[in-house]
Amino acid sequence: MGASRSLQQQQYDVLVIGSGAAGLSLALKLAKLGQVAVISKTKLWSGSTPYAQGGVSAVLDKSDSLSAHVNDTLNAGAGLCDKETVNFTVANGAQSINWLIEQGVPFTRNKPKKNKKQFAYHLTREGGHSHRRVIHADDATGAAIAETLIQQAKAHPNISLLERHLAIDLIHGERLGLKKRCLGAYVFDRKKRCVRVIAARFVVLATGGAGKVYLYTSNPDTATGDGMAMAWRAGCRVANMEFIQFHPTCLYHPQAKSFLISEAVRGEGGRLLLPNGKRFMDKFDPRAELAPRDIVARAIDHEMKRTGSDSVFLDISHKSDKFITEHFPNIYQRCRELGFDLRREPIPVVPAAHYTCGGVIIDRHGQTDVHGLFAIGEVSFTGLHGANRMASNSLLECVVFADSTAAAIEAQWQQVDMPPNLPAWDDSRVTDSDEEVVVAHNWDELRRFMWDYVGIVRTTKRLQRAQHRVDLLQSEILEYYRHFRISNDLIELRNLVQVADLIIRSALARQESRGLHYTLDFPNSAPLAHNTVLSPERR
Ligand code: FAD
Ligand code: SIN
Repeated sequence: MGASRSLQQQQYDVLVIGSGAAGLSLALKLAKLGQVAVISKTKLWSGSTPYAQGGVSAVLDKSDSLSAHVNDTLNAGAGLCDKETVNFTVANGAQSINWLIEQGVPFTRNKPKKNKKQFAYHLTREGGHSHRRVIHADDATGAAIAETLIQQAKAHPNISLLERHLAIDLIHGERLGLKKRCLGAYVFDRKKRCVRVIAARFVVLATGGAGKVYLYTSNPDTATGDGMAMAWRAGCRVANMEFIQFHPTCLYHPQAKSFLISEAVRGEGGRLLLPNGKRFMDKFDPRAELAPRDIVARAIDHEMKRTGSDSVFLDISHKSDKFITEHFPNIYQRCRELGFDLRREPIPVVPAAHYTCGGVIIDRHGQTDVHGLFAIGEVSFTGLHGANRMASNSLLECVVFADSTAAAIEAQWQQVDMPPNLPAWDDSRVTDSDEEVVVAHNWDELRRFMWDYVGIVRTTKRLQRAQHRVDLLQSEILEYYRHFRISNDLIELRNLVQVADLIIRSALARQESRGLHYTLDFPNSAPLAHNTVLSPERR
C-alpha cells in the first residue's frame, strides 16, 4: 500500500470507537490501566445515548425479583433470547446502576413519605415490565448519563477524547501479513480532512445502532450502522439483523424529526386512541398500552391502515397538570414548542425505527470473531433482546457489557503488544468527486425503500424487491467509493447500504413471524426458535 499523505501513526492501549453509554463506561473502567482513546464521529455528545428518555431497567425494589425481570425479558423477546445472557445481564443490573450513581448520574429521587420506608429513587414502568423497575432522570435519562460520563472522561488523565474522528475501517493484521488480530483503525479526521492511522492493542466498537437505514427513525443522524459494517468487512459474523424495533409513539409533526414520546407516558397511564377518540389496544393484547413494543407498533400500523389515518393519538390529559409537568418536563416542553399541550389534548403519534436488536456477535466478554476486537452496546448481539427488546434493557446492556468487557481486556493486558507500524491510508488512485449528487440521491432512495419494503409488516415479494434494489445500489456505491475521495456522507452511505443488505438477507431467511419480524407470507411462529447468523466468509 502506498501512502499519498504520511501522517504519524497514533498509538493507544485501547481504541474505543464511540462515545455513548457503552464506549464511555468501558473507557472509564479501563483508564486506570493505560492510555485509552475514545473517538466520536461528531461531538462527544452524540449517538442515541443522550436521546434516551425512559430510563434503565434493573431489579432495585424489594417487591421485584430477578426472576420477574428475566421472565419479562424472555416474554418480550418472543422465545429467542439467550437465557444465560438474560440471567447474566439481569443479575448484574443493580451493580451497574450503583456504578452509574457513583459516577454522579442524578437519577430522580422518590419524595420522602412519612413513616414509610421506600427505595431512594423513583422507578417508572414501561411496556412488558411486570414491575416498576425503570430508574430514570426525569424524562431525559440518557442526557443525564451522557453528561455525567463525558465529564468523568474529560477529567481522567489517561483518556483522550477525539471528536469529529470518523472510523472508516478496522485494520486486520492478517490481511497485511501481520498478526492475526485487529490492530487499529483508519480514521477520517473531519476537521483536518485527512485519514489517520490509529493503532491500539485492543479495539472496541461502541458505535450504536442503524436506525438511519429507515426514512423515519427516532435515532440521531449518527446511527448509520458503521460498527456493524466495519466488523462485517473485517470478518465478523452478525446475527438477527432482521429484528428492527419500531417504537410505537413518535410525535407526528413535520418539524419533529420523529421526536420520541417515551413509553413511560403509557407506563404512567397514557392511552392510545383512534382519531374518533376510542381506545383500541385491548383488542390486540390483554396488557393493552403496556404490551411489548412489537405488538403495540403493529397494532398502530394496522389501525392507521384500516382507518386511513396519518396517525393515532396518545392521551395523558386525564392526569393532573402537576403530574404531567413533573414526570415529563422535557416531552411536555418540546410538545408545547410544536403546538401541542399534553395537559389538555391527545397528541398525534406514529411508529418509527428505533433500535437494532441484532448486531455483531460477541460472547459474554464482548469478544467478536476477530482477536483484539470487541463490541459493546447497540452495535453488538449478545442474545439479550431476542426477537424484541424490552424497554430500557438497552442502557442496562451497555453498562453490564462494558464492565464484563473491561474485565476481559484487563485479563489480557500483559499478553498483548503494541502493533508495529501500520501502512498509511492509500488514496493515490482516487480523485475528487464531480457528482456528489449521487451520494445524496442514494441515501434518500435507500432509506425510502427500506421503509416501504422492509418495515413493520413484510412480505417475501417486498423483501425481494428491496434485495434487488440494494444489490444495485451496493455495486454503484462501491464503484463510487473506489474512484472518489472519501467524504463523511460517502463513508456512512457505504455502511448503510451494507447494513441494509444484512437486514434484508436476514429477513428473507426467516420464514416465520416472530417478535419484530412479521411477514404476511409466514404469519405464524415456527415451533423451534433459532437465530439468523450471517457469516462474511459464506457470502
Ligand atoms: P450510542 O449512544 O448510539 O453511541 C454511538 C457512538 O458511536 C456515538 O458517539 C457516535 O458518534 C459514535 N460512532 C458511530 N459510528 C462511528 C464511527 N464510524 N466512527 C467514530 N464514531 C462513531 N434505551 C434504554 O435502555 N432506555 C431508554 O430510555 C432509551 N430511550 C431511547 C430514546 C431514543 C430517542 C433512542 C434513539 C434510543 C433510546 N434507547 C433507550 C436506546 C439506547 O439509547 C441506545 O441503545 C443506547 O444509548 C446505545 O448506546 P451505545 O453506547 O451503544 O451507542
Ligand atoms: C422510551 O423512553 O420509550 C424509550 C425506552 C427504550 O427505548 O428503551
